[in-house]
Amino acid sequence: MLTISIIAQKGGSGKTTVARCLAVSFELSGRSAAIIDLDPQASATLWGDRRGEDNPPEVISTALPLLDKTLAAAKASVDVVLIDTPPKSSEAALAAAKAADLVLIPCRPQIDDIETLPATRQLLELVGKGDRSFVVLNSVPSYRPRTEEAMESIKSHPKGSFDVCSVTFGQRAAFGDSSVVGRTPSEFDPDGKASEECEKLHKFVKKIVSM
Ligand SMILES: Nc1ncnc2c1ncn2[C@@H]1O[C@H](COP(=O)(O)OP(=O)(O)OP(=O)(O)O)[C@@H](O)[C@H]1O
Ligand SMILES: [Mg+2]
Repeated sequence: MLTISIIAQKGGSGKTTVARCLAVSFELSGRSAAIIDLDPQASATLWGDRRGEDNPPEVISTALPLLDKTLAAAKASVDVVLIDTPPKSSEAALAAAKAADLVLIPCRPQIDDIETLPATRQLLELVGKGDRSFVVLNSVPSYRPRTEEAMESIKSHPKGSFDVCSVTFGQRAAFGDSSVVGRTPSEFDPDGKASEECEKLHKFVKKIVSM
């Protein structure tokens, strides 16, 4: 089983969005997926409720002390687990990173998000996952130079640089609108740009993990 953890200390950076989009993309490509929701806000779990029963990916809401047990159970039933984590919790981020084969760190191209990255870098080093992690730029504007500037500043940050995923998610209504009905852009608007970005991220992840 492949375990992908989505962490970021900044709230609202797109952790749950990335977890949901990837889980659905894996399902659509024939790999079974589940989301383990470590966030007491339960955004992923409530999205799962909106999807309705018998409509994978299953979303399993759990608490940090039960993570290992929940992961072991998931291992028996799915190919890929996405762990969605709460913001501002180093403890949850640390446990999720420790369990991960790959860590994704959603980050908007703005200083308030970027300045939280060195703390995430430190945390990843603690569990030896520094070289298994990528920042994914989310909610990027259509003005491309802004995104490229953010990519460069993240790659060369003096207090903790990161590899940056070549795939970005644009600021697009389909991400929020699809969530209202418990879907992702890949299901809600399959021919749209957001859907295309989800598919590209899915391909990027498969390449990194040699799947
Ligand atoms: N690329 C995007 N374009 C438009 N809206 C987006 C995009 N990504 C996320 N959103 C919206 O921004 C909000 C926050 O996203 P999300 O819930 O994924 O962030 P989060 O990091 O999980 O937040 P939290 O830290 O509270 O758990 C949601 O309403 C989501 O629909
Ligand atoms: Mg969230």
